[in-house]
Amino acid sequence: KGCKLVGCGSALPSIQISNDDLSEIVDTSDEWISVRTGIRNRRILSRKDSLTAMATEAAQKALQMAEVDPDDVDLVLLCTSTPEDLFGSAPQIQKALGCSNNPLAYDITAACSGFLLGLVSAACYIRGGGFNNVLVIGADALSRYVDRNDRGSCILFGDAAGAVLLQSCDSEEDGLFAFDMHSDGEGQRHLKASMKENGRDELGTNGSLLGLLLEAPSSYSCIEMNGKEVFRFAVRVVPHSIELALEKAGLGVSNIDWLLLHQANQRIIDAVATRLEVPPERVISNLANYGNTSAASIPLALDEAVRSGKVRGGDTIATAGFGAGLTWGSAIVRW
Ligand code: ACO
Repeated sequence: KGCKLVGCGSALPSIQISNDDLSEIVDTSDEWISVRTGIRNRRILSRKDSLTAMATEAAQKALQMAEVDPDDVDLVLLCTSTPEDLFGSAPQIQKALGCSNNPLAYDITAACSGFLLGLVSAACYIRGGGFNNVLVIGADALSRYVDRNDRGSCILFGDAAGAVLLQSCDSEEDGLFAFDMHSDGEGQRHLKASMKENGRDELGTNGSLLGLLLEAPSSYSCIEMNGKEVFRFAVRVVPHSIELALEKAGLGVSNIDWLLLHQANQRIIDAVATRLEVPPERVISNLANYGNTSAASIPLALDEAVRSGKVRGGDTIATAGFGAGLTWGSAIVRW
């Protein structure tokens, strides 16, 4: 059994923050941010906006493009590290979409690699049988977890949602040619948003069991990042991963119509394209407008490229995600 991409969609918050806006709260400049990252603007959700609603909108657009009824969806995968419910937000999206047959819906947490993991998981469900239409949504609101005093990281992130619909098909039509996925927990120290240490000891702060029970509930710290290490990691692992996936697919770089990487930094995108010898006109990039939108970045960029007519039916795309975990991976897909 095969699987193919049949629809995509995206959604963005309305609030736009420029580099100049950021330079009013941290010691930075439009020039520094543009030169070092390629980012000029990003969108952010307000506190009263909903990530779940934004993810639902992206999914609705993907279903509309594919002309698939919500009742025919068999599985909803929400790839996010910033759900609005610790227990997962995917069932809320399933409900909002009006999927009347109660399909399975759950969250996948893998930071900026989340969408790729979701895509590969969706393909495995379909190939295993019993699943025909799987929604893969990448949605994140990292703006809610940035330290606005840390100029090295707060300039990078924006909020967005993107979605694709993966559908079962005959094996000759298969559109997911190969993939390659990895994790390295050792590198977690370079990029994390860990549970806050609230100084509790085994018996609570005042040494009693009651003290332990009465301590403040847990929460998460802001994003802590060693940008240089993350940069080096991405430039080292991503080209290799794409080469491995291409090899598994029996393809070469010359067979790729588009290189679509997680949109983290234009210098990372350029370095990977140079290493793989993919010319700039075959590289998709929209991070100037949206910054790093984590799990949303790949489906958001795909959706823009498809709707603008850049990516056409039958095009082969090498896509790769990388980020916290550390996690990384790539997939060779046909649109
Ligand atoms: N404005 C002005 N100056 C700054 C800023 C800023 N926003 N940020 C850092 N600087 C300064 C530093 O303090 C440093 O000053 P110094 O030389 O006086 O010490 C100087 O600029 C150079 O800083 P570096 O950190 O060495 O700058 P670098 O060229 O590495 O760029 C950046 C930093 C943009 C963060 C880069 O390392 C990067 O993009 N790394 C990848 C990060 C990434 O992609 N993270 C997300 C991964 S996806 C996920 O899972 C969430």
